[in-house]
Amino acid sequence: MVKNKKKKKNIKTKKQIPADKKLLDEIIRVDQAGELGATKIYAGQLAVFGKESNIGKKIKHMADQEQEHIDTFNRLIVEKKVRPTAMMPLWNILGYTLGVTTAIMGKKAAMACTVAVEEVIGKHYEIQAKQLKDKEPELKKIILNFRDDELEHHDIGLENDAEKAFGYSLLSKIIKTGCKTAIAISKKI
Ligand SMILES: [Fe+2]
Ligand SMILES: [Fe+2]
Repeated sequence: MVKNKKKKKNIKTKKQIPADKKLLDEIIRVDQAGELGATKIYAGQLAVFGKESNIGKKIKHMADQEQEHIDTFNRLIVEKKVRPTAMMPLWNILGYTLGVTTAIMGKKAAMACTVAVEEVIGKHYEIQAKQLKDKEPELKKIILNFRDDELEHHDIGLENDAEKAFGYSLLSKIIKTGCKTAIAISKKI
């Protein structure tokens, strides 16, 4: 009897988080991380190409939109009291490194990076919008707007010869796998 009582007490004191809050936390946490990664990728590419070059101007347009995206999630993470991912410092470095590396490989490789990243992020936002159903309409609207921006970035990449990059399909596969792994980790950790 005594043992049972103890057990019940433990269950009661354990913090119960409703499923919706868990989903909301995961969405905001992973999106903040992803948008940070995106700003870093484009910052890395701009460091190589410069903002005034032809390709730099196109990247700057995307980087400016990524800045709006990260600003929004930085605001939401505070408003909704969500713990940011502990992986932030790593995504920071990896994003920048990916940007610099692909830019050094050339304009086409930089655009191939954009196509791969934005395809994954565009689909990711699409899935999140579906998961939210009719809940959190403000957040859902933000996610759908950002999805449109990411798909625009994807198309800019294609219009700028992404697919002509040397080793395009391998490069694309590596980057997509990296993005998907980062998404899976950032939701939880
Ligand atoms: Fe973005
Ligand atoms: Fe983007």
